[in-house]
Amino acid sequence: MHSLKTRIQQDGIVLSDEVLKVDSFLNHQVDPELMKEMGEEFCRRFQDKKITKVLTLESSGIAPALFTALNLGVPLIFARKRKSLTLNEDILTAEVYSFTKQETSTISVSKKFLNQDDHVLIIDDFLANGQAGLGLIEVVTKAKASISGIGIVIEKAFQNGGELLRDTGYQVESLARISSLENSTVSFLEEEVTV
Ligand code: G4P
Repeated sequence: MHSLKTRIQQDGIVLSDEVLKVDSFLNHQVDPELMKEMGEEFCRRFQDKKITKVLTLESSGIAPALFTALNLGVPLIFARKRKSLTLNEDILTAEVYSFTKQETSTISVSKKFLNQDDHVLIIDDFLANGQAGLGLIEVVTKAKASISGIGIVIEKAFQNGGELLRDTGYQVESLARISSLENSTVSFLEEEVTV
C-alpha cells in the first residue's frame, strides 16, 4: 500500500534495528484518512472470502480493524488483554507471550460474540514474532469458528512471525512489509506493483 509506505518513510522513527515507532499515525495519534484507506485495502484483498466478523487485539489493532469491519459491513470484536473479572465463565482465552516486552498476557473474547457459524478476519497493527496472531487464531479455533484470513498493517519481515502465520496455511496479507531497519533506514521487502 503505497500511501502507508510513504507515511512510514516520512513519519516513522527507527528506534533500533528491531523497532519502528509510528505513534504519529497508528499507535498513539491515529490518522483516520489512512485508517479508512487501510480498511478499503483489507476489504479488497479479502473480497473473495466469506467474513462475518473482524477480530483484533486491543489497543492499536482497533483503528484499522474498525474501518475494515465498516467496509465489510460486519461487527468488530477486540480481544481484551486482561481477563474480565465479571466474565470468567463465558470467555475464550489464549496465552500470548511478547518477545518484545518479555511478558505473557491472557487474551480473552466473550463466547457470546464468536460461534461455529462465524468466518473471522483477523487484523493486527504489527506482525513481529507472530504470537498475537497465533493467540487470536487459538481463540477463533476454540469458538469452533473458521478463519477467513489474517490482515497485518506493518509486518517486520526480518522477524519470524510472518513465516509462523503463513505456515498455518491461512491467507496472510500485510500492507507494508519491512525487510530491514538497519542504519536507521526503513527498507521494504517488495516494490509496489502499479496497475
Ligand atoms: P508479536 O505479537 O508479533 O509476537 O509481537 P511482539 O510480542 O514482539 O510485540 C508486542 C507488542 O509490541 C505489540 O503491541 C506489537 O504490536 C508491538 N510491536 C512489535 N514490534 C513493534 C515495532 O517495531 N514498533 C511498534 N510501534 N510496535 C511494535 P501491543 O503491546 O499489543 O501494543 P498496543 O496494541 O496496545 O499498542
